[in-house]
Amino acid sequence: MQPLIIVDRLNFDHVSPNGSRVAALRGVSLEIHKGELVSLIGANGSGKSTLARHFNALHIPTSGKVWVNGLDTSLPGNHAQIRSHVGMVFQNPEDQMIASIVEEEVAFGLENMGVSRPEMIKRIRAVLKEYDLWEERSRPPHLLSSGQIQRLALAGVLAMQPECIIFDETTAMLDPVGRQTVMQSIREMHRQGMTILYITHAMEEAAQADRMIVLDKGRVAMDDTPASVFSKPKILDSLGLELPEANHLARQLARLLPSIPSSVLSRELLLSNLPAYDHAKYKPDNQPPGKGNPNGHSLIEVRKLEHVYLAGTPLEHRSLKGVDLSVNEQDVHALLGPTGSGKSTLLQHINGLFRPQSGSVRVDRYNLSDPAIDMQSLRSMVGLVFQNPDMQLFEQFVGDEIAFGPRLAGLTGAQLRKRVRQAMELVGLGFSAYKDRFTIGLSGGERKKVTLASALALNPHILLLDEPLAGLDPHSRKGLLDALKRMVKSGLTLILSSHNITEITQIASHVSLVQDGRIAAAGSSASIFSYRQVMERAGLIAPLVPTIADELRARGWPLPPDIYQEKQLLSAIKTLQEAGT
Ligand SMILES: Nc1ncnc2c1ncn2[C@@H]1O[C@H](COP(=O)(O)OP(=O)(O)OP(=O)(O)O)[C@@H](O)[C@H]1O
Ligand SMILES: [Mg+2]
Repeated sequence: MQPLIIVDRLNFDHVSPNGSRVAALRGVSLEIHKGELVSLIGANGSGKSTLARHFNALHIPTSGKVWVNGLDTSLPGNHAQIRSHVGMVFQNPEDQMIASIVEEEVAFGLENMGVSRPEMIKRIRAVLKEYDLWEERSRPPHLLSSGQIQRLALAGVLAMQPECIIFDETTAMLDPVGRQTVMQSIREMHRQGMTILYITHAMEEAAQADRMIVLDKGRVAMDDTPASVFSKPKILDSLGLELPEANHLARQLARLLPSIPSSVLSRELLLSNLPAYDHAKYKPDNQPPGKGNPNGHSLIEVRKLEHVYLAGTPLEHRSLKGVDLSVNEQDVHALLGPTGSGKSTLLQHINGLFRPQSGSVRVDRYNLSDPAIDMQSLRSMVGLVFQNPDMQLFEQFVGDEIAFGPRLAGLTGAQLRKRVRQAMELVGLGFSAYKDRFTIGLSGGERKKVTLASALALNPHILLLDEPLAGLDPHSRKGLLDALKRMVKSGLTLILSSHNITEITQIASHVSLVQDGRIAAAGSSASIFSYRQVMERAGLIAPLVPTIADELRARGWPLPPDIYQEKQLLSAIKTLQEAGT
């Protein structure tokens, strides 16, 4: 059978507005067959989006060839047909929105395809219901949360029923439940015979494909089954990638509990392979729960905060319904909750982008209800990085973008240069490689890093980060978390929202679970992360470590409470084993 997509010695250069070229793909050759389920991974800037855009003729090779269903993508006459075969859901779904209300957004593609009216109505209803957007069907897309926009973009492509769909980090802005929904529908579409290629920075998602293509600096570094790719952790590491969390934990646990196969790639398999406690062998030694969380000076106080978007219009939306939040100096306070639950709205109250409509917000000595407060000095103390980098980039060159704030604050010459260089290095953007790059000519992850560096360059006292890890590859995520930890040690206070709950367990000191505009639970990390029911009740998926601890307890292991980090779990198991020998 003829492959659906053939790529033959593809080279591609991006050409910048000043004529400079960036080599994005080098000698890529591969085939994708009908019905395959393929994941495409690689570090930020490795060429994933560029390659994917060749498959529906959004990019044309600089040299080499791409054929889709036998159609040469370099011939403009083939483009319409190619795009009816291959649908694409982009990394920044806002770019994809054209209609003024949600329903029309889905209808648009169908109208262009000439689908009959009754069939259209049926399909729109089905996809909007499936993606939990039915209630929003009359709202304008730009008023939806980022996660909702991402679901809408997906619904719009799915309604067209193409034979191949390419997903470019479609799950990046989604909460874990939303991610599972997308992965389920990907598997379902694949089961029905559709060809699917998906790009992701989440290794556990990549592992669900039949085949993985790994890019490194524009070349194919690996093209193999997930089992084979993930059996080479050293190579993965050198490519800026990592093992899926379940596999990493399985390897660690297998050293203590040899019955666990270290090849498991999924959470479910790992949980089902946990051994029962052997009471004959180990003597239980119950330890008292660890507690204690001294209260410092409270730096930020939010009380009974309410916020209504577009009050008094038919589009009125209550997004905060009486929120309380206390944050002390040098806390790392995580806001966790489903998309649309109000986290971004809350963050924007803390640097004064929104003023309290009802309730109060105090940040250090500033009362945000006071119309006369000095906004400029508040903003120089509190940095905010939005979820979507495109809302925050406005300079032409990367270096100027990052220097913008420090320049306003009076830095010049060598001092300014040093500050910019440091900030870029903190987020893993090489100073000389990136300072003169165009901000519009960057990959999704690179853009995100520029907005993070811009905020860090201001040396803020308080930093508000909305989904800082979304779009970053595994090494960049780790690098950023390490940099933030160091900054907190030297005085920074951090409030961040994130769907990467496992990575947040490594940095957060406190957690608030946000659900439908309210705080569903709040407390120290140990008091929230160790209790998976608390997180599940708030609509989240609990991290794997406390889930394993619970599962082991259910199998008779007398583990102490408050286990939510890998090292705690491993040492608790070791303690029990040593007590038995
Ligand atoms: N419009 C553009 N103009 C110039 N260079 C670009 C442009 N878009 C991407 N690039 C560059 O091409 C290379 C590949 O980018 P691409 O967007 O394909 O990476 P990616 O693997 O999708 O990264 P990410 O994980 O960050 O989304 C990078 O060096 C990037 O900086
Ligand atoms: Mg990309």
